[in-house]
Amino acid sequence: MLFIGDLNNRNLSDALGQSLGVGVIYPDKHVFDDGEVRMRLEESVLDQEVYVLKSTSQPVDTNFLELLFTIDALKRSGAKKVTAVLPYLGYSRADHVFREGEGVPLEVIIKSLEVIGLDEAIIIDPHTIRISEMFSIPTQMESALPVFAEKIIELGLDPNKISIVSPDMGGIRRVKQLSDLLPGSFYAAINKDRDLATGELTNSQVKEGEIREICIVTDDIISTGGTMVRAVDLCLEEGAKEVYMFATQPVFAADAHEKLAKSKARRIYVTDAIPVPEEKMFPNLEIITLAPRIAGMLQR
Ligand code: R5P
Repeated sequence: MLFIGDLNNRNLSDALGQSLGVGVIYPDKHVFDDGEVRMRLEESVLDQEVYVLKSTSQPVDTNFLELLFTIDALKRSGAKKVTAVLPYLGYSRADHVFREGEGVPLEVIIKSLEVIGLDEAIIIDPHTIRISEMFSIPTQMESALPVFAEKIIELGLDPNKISIVSPDMGGIRRVKQLSDLLPGSFYAAINKDRDLATGELTNSQVKEGEIREICIVTDDIISTGGTMVRAVDLCLEEGAKEVYMFATQPVFAADAHEKLAKSKARRIYVTDAIPVPEEKMFPNLEIITLAPRIAGMLQR
């Protein structure tokens, strides 16, 4: 197996290489004066099975093109099979037509990967489980939830006092799964309304389940931070004494990190699915690596 690392996410790439016990091959990236990019492989990949790690986070379009160009280079260089390992796939929330006159960006992303010759995709905590139906090539899903469960156990929190809370109804499956990994815990889901034109959150209330003393609010993505901060406040209003946030993909758009740093959450846990730049780190934030989990999956 050959493993191509993500220049955009070197920490996860190096940790994954170590967990797999293989050297990480980084593509050579050249940016021309006009901003165009060339990706080049400096090692032979002929007849090899190759795994390419890529988080297509900000700058989303550039990272996505780098992924496409790398896959193209691998295919043209004779790789036998190319599998993309995608801890975060940008545009994954744009999975259907929300309003008349719009397209479906996620479908465009998927079609582009397939047209270029990708053989298989491994997706970590996809925003929609429908994603596997949207691909024509084989896909596999992996989840950060067992890693979150380990961390919650390590925190020594009493499962009988815990509610695993989804900040929106779309995440109900996720909280049920995490609750199953923590016997005795309960789950709850909040109803969230969003203005489709502005993206602004309008109304939220606990719609299903029960809020206990300790709340673990969990979501796939933290983008502006609005959804999670609102959910933490709601849990406290409903009687919770301590609230923790767990999310797989720290998109941390604009000033999300400032909003999160000021939130009433006791601690915020995210994974290295997306790298958090130094200037967006804050004291309350902890990054959990997904490397052993992804490595375990690739070795199965
Ligand atoms: C959407 O349904 C996702 O699961 C997240 O809840 C959403 O992306 C979070 O966005 P924001 O952090 O901007 O509120």
